[in-house]
Amino acid sequence: MAFSRDFLEEIKQRNSIEDVVSQYVPLKRAGSNMTGLCPFHNEKTPSFVVFPRSESFYCFGCGEGGDVVSFIMKHESLEYPDAVALLAKRCGIQVPDDAPMKSNAVRRERIIAMNRDAAMFFHTTLYSPAGEKGLEYFKSRRLSDATIKHFGLGYAGDSWNALSDYLHEKGYSDREMTTGFLAGEKGKRVYDYFRSRVMFPIIDLSGNVVAFGGRALGDAKPKYINSSDTPAFRKSKYLFALNFAKLNTSGGLIMCEGYMDVISLHQAGFTNAVATLGTAVNAEHAKTISHHTDSVMLAYDSDSAGKKATERAINVLGEAGINVRVIDLGDSKDPDEFIKNHGTAAFSAKLKTTKERIDYQIEEIIGKYDVSGPDQQEKRMTELTAFVATLYSQPTREIYCHRIAQLTGLSYEGLARTVEVKRRALVKTKKSENDAIDIRRAAGYRDNVNPDRVRFSDVSAIEEAIIGILLVRPDLGTECLKKLKADELNTEFCRKVYRAFEPQLAKGESVILSEDGALTNAEQSELARYMAARQILTNNGSSVLTELINTLKEKNERRKADESAGDDIDALGDYLKKLREKKK
Ligand code: GTP
Ligand code: MN
Repeated sequence: MAFSRDFLEEIKQRNSIEDVVSQYVPLKRAGSNMTGLCPFHNEKTPSFVVFPRSESFYCFGCGEGGDVVSFIMKHESLEYPDAVALLAKRCGIQVPDDAPMKSNAVRRERIIAMNRDAAMFFHTTLYSPAGEKGLEYFKSRRLSDATIKHFGLGYAGDSWNALSDYLHEKGYSDREMTTGFLAGEKGKRVYDYFRSRVMFPIIDLSGNVVAFGGRALGDAKPKYINSSDTPAFRKSKYLFALNFAKLNTSGGLIMCEGYMDVISLHQAGFTNAVATLGTAVNAEHAKTISHHTDSVMLAYDSDSAGKKATERAINVLGEAGINVRVIDLGDSKDPDEFIKNHGTAAFSAKLKTTKERIDYQIEEIIGKYDVSGPDQQEKRMTELTAFVATLYSQPTREIYCHRIAQLTGLSYEGLARTVEVKRRALVKTKKSENDAIDIRRAAGYRDNVNPDRVRFSDVSAIEEAIIGILLVRPDLGTECLKKLKADELNTEFCRKVYRAFEPQLAKGESVILSEDGALTNAEQSELARYMAARQILTNNGSSVLTELINTLKEKNERRKADESAGDDIDALGDYLKKLREKKK
């Protein structure tokens, strides 16, 4: 059972694409279209365009595209019916009862509502007799009541069913609790997952409680339990306290490892501190961060795990174009301990003397080797020069060779010479890698959606233009169907799309890109690209369409003629060969 077309049309009409997208992405007007920074890849200059007239979007940078429903699906990581339901709710339309909800799937909104109730429950418990141990713990970590309230901290008591009983009363089902990672299942009964733990709600940028972290008191194992992924939450995407930190990003973000570090820093007034949720920084985090700032200061633990995490974060964030600096915590094991031992002013001072990431990395390499023996000296030199060779600009490489010479006593000339040799080798491998990618791309290997593009290079652009015009000007559909048969299209994708859209085109109705099951994500993006190209050209009248159709037909004729001419030449060759053989 699919959504009715009328229902989908109404959803699209009442959720104009520019309104919906601009809730997530700041858009600027550019003629009749709008542009902004693409939310689906990292970029500094806008290549993301919203086309209000055709209700579509397309990013010229990463190639993502589609309509308002596909935008929500991609941005909120929702399945098709849930994205439609979100938009229905947004404009106050009732979703029809027979609509295709994912087979008894638990809905995101239900989990968010349940999490909010659970957070309230944990917070209330903290200040009740059952929460005495929890409150004592927070006090021992020097958190004030104001901080506890600000972060909505709470306590999960020793009971196995206090929360689940409460949530049952509130009308949540067992399934919702288990899916939402608040309860486990034993036999036929559910039991509370979080017990005897202080609770940290994880709040998204819209203020929804999307997950929890729970810390054991004392040394019980595991120290932390964090929610797994649920329909409302993807661990690899969220940052703890970004809901507060986003308001104070002018000086960049401070990244820590743990919840407690973040909370201590906020309490001390450093409200730009965030942490990942017990996972290493990844490209998704980097993308999220780059929406708020282009500068991050790392304040990871000073143990070896923290150092590894720092190295990784430098790479991942650096790739996203974020400027990374490192905070040296001296002899403190983490920011929380630093604040406790040295106070706020000392931390402010640390923020002013952060190390640029390259300096940090060089000093780390130098610190790794004990250079009393020649063997270690050689290894240190090799690692240092290999590292400097990765730096992009030549003057930068020179500066760091000087720095290394100063720090180690190695000769500048020797360093610089080795670095440049390594650089050339690096560029060479990079270049051949890039060449290989270009060749594959030119050969169409990378184009999974329309793989015929290269084979029919003379007509594929024309066919894409025809499809693009039809999507932008569905009213030309009837006319086009009369002049052009699907079989006349050479590229398989265009032919398939043309056939699939025939019923709508015959009626002059617009095509709904996201309509369930019809097109894959990549196919929708491809079609959004055809539309985008046409809308930037703006000339999409009936005469242009006719001209394209005629050119296509001409080229088809010519190809046929060429093919038979080829036959003639072969035949001629055979004939000449026979003649020669006869003469012998
Ligand atoms: P405190 O020891 O209370 O200061 O905690 P912390 O927040 O400083 O945590 P720590 O530096 O030990 O760990 C950093 C982060 O890693 C934590 O905030 C958690 O998100 C995560 N983490 C730590 N221990 C565990 C664990 O046992 N299981 C899981 N899943 N995550 C953990
Ligand atoms: Mn800690």
